[in-house]
Amino acid sequence: MRGGFCGFVVDAVTLGAFLAIGHSPANAQSIAEKTEVCAGCHGQDGKPIDKTIPTLWGQQLGYIYIELRDFKRGDRTSEIMQPIAMALEKQDMLDIAAYFSQKPWPDLGQPRASKEVSDRALGANRSVGCTGCHLDHFQGDGTVPRLAGMSREYLTKTIADFRTRTRGNNPGMSDLMLATSPDDLAALAEYLAGL
Ligand code: HEC
Ligand code: HEC
Repeated sequence: MRGGFCGFVVDAVTLGAFLAIGHSPANAQSIAEKTEVCAGCHGQDGKPIDKTIPTLWGQQLGYIYIELRDFKRGDRTSEIMQPIAMALEKQDMLDIAAYFSQKPWPDLGQPRASKEVSDRALGANRSVGCTGCHLDHFQGDGTVPRLAGMSREYLTKTIADFRTRTRGNNPGMSDLMLATSPDDLAALAEYLAGL
């Protein structure tokens, strides 16, 4: 089962209540309340509870918004995120994106890549030009995500999903990932995690 629950437990009651409230037109929940359910997986302190879950704290506002929109549209598939995004209106998504983007990026304590791995990753970056879009030090901007310090397991999973087009919301990224060798991508994931 792709995009499965990977062993972490969703509090069905919390999620159910969240989804019900999300559909209500008289939605008077504060942002702190709306983001409480997110913290159950993406982490109370910004550190996700599972290594296959991406970091939201400090991620780019535009990017968080685009992903929520794509989950809602079904352009990006996830059994977990799609029902959550379905319950959000555009303004909720923008508010939630602003809320998380203003938080500090958490240190996941991942090891710095060895010189050999870093050299391979930087060589691949020179030929593909990742930093042409993801910018210096892979900090991202606008709708281009920050990659520096993201969990290695999540990076590996989402790169694989781009390559199989299981993640189909940005065909250009899939083309780029397919044009890059698996060994170079593995080096990039290890390098990026350690930044
Ligand atoms: C039950 C666990 C769970 C909950 C609750 C949850 N998420 Fe997620 N989220 C995930 C997983 C797992 C992924 C990765 C999906 C994939 O790529 O297959 C994800 C991915 C995302 C992404 C894409 C990030 C990226 O780097 O591409 C965003 C944005 C996001 N979630 C926002 C939210 C918000 C906002 C909430 C609360 C309203 C929330 N999530 C609640 C598990 C969860
Ligand atoms: C032409 C611009 C461009 C280039 C070049 C590029 N990217 Fe991206 N990348 C993007 C955009 C835009 C997204 C967001 C896609 C979306 O909307 O989901 C993205 C998303 C990603 C993601 C998903 C991050 C997450 O949180 O889920 C990863 C990983 C990634 N890129 C890695 C790379 C690597 C590694 C390279 C170089 C081998 C690279 N990218 C080159 C524009 C680019």
